[in-house]
Amino acid sequence: MAMVCLTDFEEYAKQHLSKATWDYYAAGADECCTRDDNLLAYKRIRLRPRILRDVSVSDTRTTVQGTEISFPVGIAPTAFHCLAWHEGEMATARATEAVNTCYITSTYSTCSVEEIVAAAPNGYRWFQLYVYRDRKLSEQIVHRVEALGYKALVLTVDVPYTGKRRNDIRNQFKLPPHLKVKNFDGVFQETAGPEEYGIPANTLDPSISWKDVYWLQSLTRLPIIIKGILTKEDAELAVEHGVQGIIVSNHGGRQLDGGPATIDALSEIVDTVQGRIEVYLDGGIRTGSDVLKAVALGAKCVFIGRPAVWGLAYKGEEGVREVLQILNDEFRLSMALSGESRPIQLAVGKLGKNRNLEF
Ligand code: FNR
Repeated sequence: MAMVCLTDFEEYAKQHLSKATWDYYAAGADECCTRDDNLLAYKRIRLRPRILRDVSVSDTRTTVQGTEISFPVGIAPTAFHCLAWHEGEMATARATEAVNTCYITSTYSTCSVEEIVAAAPNGYRWFQLYVYRDRKLSEQIVHRVEALGYKALVLTVDVPYTGKRRNDIRNQFKLPPHLKVKNFDGVFQETAGPEEYGIPANTLDPSISWKDVYWLQSLTRLPIIIKGILTKEDAELAVEHGVQGIIVSNHGGRQLDGGPATIDALSEIVDTVQGRIEVYLDGGIRTGSDVLKAVALGAKCVFIGRPAVWGLAYKGEEGVREVLQILNDEFRLSMALSGESRPIQLAVGKLGKNRNLEF
């Protein structure tokens, strides 16, 4: 089967994964308005192409936190990759190493961070972190990933509680017994009481606040990137608290339903941050022109969540590589057809009349 675009992988995953697993990956919160709007919002933006600008040579490379990557698309942290492919996060890590882009490893990986690093020793990786009621747990994992050569911590801030995902409740979804949240092997397993997704409920600390950013900074010298910001007010607070980056994200629409699409929230954040720190985005990226729109509106890099999992479900490492390659090819083509040849030159766009994107 020839895979031509990312929705081909989606179709494949839907047909081949169990219903409960498919539902878990696809889930949005409540009525899924925000999840769906993440995609639709791109379709409301029109590109304003320029012509006769010599696009015979194109170069998609860019940098994040000072490190060069092959194009401005990385992998967002998503949980439980072993549900989609037996090698799980090890396959994801190999694919991103081969393509030379950034892989944000989820706290809720089904391979341990040690296994992931061993599988792709030269990969460029950030680690996604939650703050636990038991601060020691967060502290230990921070030291572990720092020692393993992870290059940044991505603090996810939009999960004081888990969003209400209806199908997961209906399916009583949880990790099957042969899989584990390996980073916390022996820790979570010993905790009794109610569970969410096979992880003890109430492990995350809903009292987390800005002062915890200072606490995190006291534990590590790694750059800290806050994931889950959607307003200019919080973007300003992030800069004031001395973090090194922001990921504009609504968790793929899995948390607050009714919030904005990320591409719609991006501009006010970019305007507020004024280049003081890097701004990234995730949510709803499915084509190269989506990448172009986000980068042209000021995202230094975007991250894909579900499409990477569909790639895994298709063919493990090779599938994730194919997903990234297709996005890279489409991004290069959209750039050229818009009269641009380098993402670095793009981050100057403005949404004009009728949502026409000028650059
Ligand atoms: C996620 N996301 C997520 N985020 C995070 O910080 N830690 C996590 O463990 C997870 N787990 C997770 C599982 C699944 C199945 C999905 C779909 C998403 C959110 C993720 O990082 C990202 O914000 C969205 O997936 C981006 O939207 P798209 O690309 O899936 O539309």
